[in-house]
Amino acid sequence: MSKANSPLKALLAIESSCDETSASVCVEGKILSNVISSQLEHGEYGGVIPELASRLHQQQIVRVVQKALQEAKMDAHQLDAIAFTRGPGLLGALIVGTCFAKAYALGLDIPLIDVNHMHAHVLANFLTDSPPEFPFICLTVSGGHTQIVLVKSHLEMEIIGQTIDDAAGEAFDKAAKLMGLPYPGGPEVDKLAKTGNPEAFSFPIPQIGTFEFSFSGIKTSLLYLLQKEIKKDPTFLQHNMADIAASYQHTIVDILLQKLSLAAKTFQVKHLAIAGGVSANSELRKAFQELCTQEGWQAHIPPFEYCTDNAAMIAITGYYKMLAGDFADQQVAPFTRMK
Ligand code: KG4
Ligand code: ZN
Repeated sequence: MSKANSPLKALLAIESSCDETSASVCVEGKILSNVISSQLEHGEYGGVIPELASRLHQQQIVRVVQKALQEAKMDAHQLDAIAFTRGPGLLGALIVGTCFAKAYALGLDIPLIDVNHMHAHVLANFLTDSPPEFPFICLTVSGGHTQIVLVKSHLEMEIIGQTIDDAAGEAFDKAAKLMGLPYPGGPEVDKLAKTGNPEAFSFPIPQIGTFEFSFSGIKTSLLYLLQKEIKKDPTFLQHNMADIAASYQHTIVDILLQKLSLAAKTFQVKHLAIAGGVSANSELRKAFQELCTQEGWQAHIPPFEYCTDNAAMIAITGYYKMLAGDFADQQVAPFTRMK
């Protein structure tokens, strides 16, 4: 493909907000590559160490970008723009991706596009053949955020509810830590829950604002359960791992879907979506699909590889911003919190 005689819009996208270094090449909204390097090094510390994340992004970013270009069979000079995650995320990690994107765009003399990571999670639902119709409601559940978003267009989104304390992913990760499971805990709890009884233990459902979430109580309740039962029987955890995981996961999915359902009825949308790392959860995916079938809503779930952090979702968001002529300048700085 030659840039001179091709009308196609090609962009390179970079994601570095947390512990995944990822790059993707997208042409006219079609993903040609999506390379993800996960920083497994954080595992031995039981959570992401921000300074280590920045250093690992620095070590990986050139290789990951080169691989993304190679897999897409593209040359850097064929690119029309560079999209990158501006935030929210870890500042040091975001600086690595932002500086790389700026330098690359400057060197190639092409525009920069800044992308909001949470918008990108929502737009991962457009990386399929049958995307949602506007307006739709998206439940975005990741390691740092839990939001109900009213999506009016590709670039127009309104947060109608979010967590007042821990995020859903955090609730999974903290429970896994209490149970002695490796980080990140979400997939581990998911795996264990498959053989457990979801009714074995009961955890509290928080009674708070209409579209708000709270997950700190459920985590504390698990801590108290373990403390109380292990005092009586030191092998309690060992013998009840699967049932605890299943009951805990079931409660989180219940809380999420109750609020999502209420939001869909309140805003009278016909299409519903889920997004973010926790949307990789097998019970959430199944229960969400069942809820939508029962209520006559159209359910949208991103392909598994686009649920957790990846640059393809940054690319598709960058593509819509490119179509709207929404570019960033070289002064653009990362932001750590949601804007
Ligand atoms: O979206 P993401 O990759 O990163 C952030 O933007 O935070 O989400 C990561 C979160 C972690 O908390 C992880 O434990 C959770 O998503 N997660 C899961 C599953 N896969 C990832 N939680 C429950 N079940 C899963 N299968
Ligand atoms: Zn994310």
